[in-house]
Amino acid sequence: MNITFSNKSNMFQAGIFAVLNEKKEELIRQGKKIYNLSVGTPDFKTAPHIIEAVSEAAKDPDNYKYALVDIPQLIQAVQDFYQKRFQVALEADEIMSMNGSQEGMAHFAWTLCNPQDVVLVPNPGYPIFNIGPSLCDAKTIQYPLYKENNFLPRLDEIPEETAKAAKFMVVNYPANPVCAVAPDSFYEELIAFARKYEIVILHDNAYSDIIYGGRKGGSFLQFEGAKEVGVEFYSLSKSFNYTGARMSFAIGNKKIIEKFRAVRTQIDYGVFLPVQYGAAAALNGPFYMVEEQCREYEKRNQALCGGLRSIGWNVPDSEGTMFVWAPLPDGYTDSNEFVMELMEKSGVICVPGSSFGTLGEGYVRFALVENVERIEEIVESIRASGIL
Ligand SMILES: Cc1ncc(COP(=O)(O)O)c(C=O)c1O
Repeated sequence: MNITFSNKSNMFQAGIFAVLNEKKEELIRQGKKIYNLSVGTPDFKTAPHIIEAVSEAAKDPDNYKYALVDIPQLIQAVQDFYQKRFQVALEADEIMSMNGSQEGMAHFAWTLCNPQDVVLVPNPGYPIFNIGPSLCDAKTIQYPLYKENNFLPRLDEIPEETAKAAKFMVVNYPANPVCAVAPDSFYEELIAFARKYEIVILHDNAYSDIIYGGRKGGSFLQFEGAKEVGVEFYSLSKSFNYTGARMSFAIGNKKIIEKFRAVRTQIDYGVFLPVQYGAAAALNGPFYMVEEQCREYEKRNQALCGGLRSIGWNVPDSEGTMFVWAPLPDGYTDSNEFVMELMEKSGVICVPGSSFGTLGEGYVRFALVENVERIEEIVESIRASGIL
């Protein structure tokens, strides 16, 4: 039978990760030692009190029904956490759980956009920011993030016509992949911009607990007017290593949450109850593991960036996230080619910057998913490969 597929499904090709994987398998077969710094899956362990809460809840047969709603304990835990951690007071109808921020991003545009409506997304940026709106035939317009502007958008350079047309804008700091952090003044400008042009802001706050240099990560909702203009996605994946459990929250403007909930209830019957109990335990603390892990990420960041600088590759330290955004070494211009060559010669796998958008070309992204000792080994392997 001849099966013809939709244009949308044809948008998604296997892409660079499949190619990297194939190459990795080939190198492993040849006996090469591989260091995989490509995927942002934390290697840290989920805290025992979280696992305990999931396990206990999983023993109760009543917890296998459709959840349908967020349990009150979970909503309360989010409220307490946002109050304690960010000094943000939340009402229950300003909070909705999702099966991870990725899923939320994939569906959010259905809440606001008709076909051809405009969504502003960062370039370079995390791929689902583009894909989500495209899935409902909205049109993404990319705003550039340049190193010269500390990878912050220049809001005054977004053309008036584009700003007027935009339904929502995705903003993500600490930012994947560019590893920059936004100052408070940026959020104040952003909210004024959103009000002026009536653009909803979606702030992806996946990395507020992985931030370096003694700074403390914040929330978009701390800023005056934020709840009027938008929502924040807060994920438990990276802060609490609850990655595979799939739990994050859309938090903020209650009208948006209400509509978004209406869309999502068509596709989803609620997060598995044991996962909800575990998430409540995570948000209720203790938090010492979150803090310890942030310090460990910072040591890894210094070991990788400092180590690469010591062997002649000028890589700046990250300001936050679990990644490093490295400009290609002198003499290289194509990030795909460089990634392949690096893997072949040193066994180190990273991601070409071009997979995060056109302005990612000229960079590669490393995930800080190996400990300091292994990172030192990685730096040595890159040095010994002669690629620099
Ligand atoms: C910026 C950003 N947003 C969202 C996600 C996905 O988060 P979740 O696991 O909650 O779907 C990631 C994961 O790497 C990310 O880097």
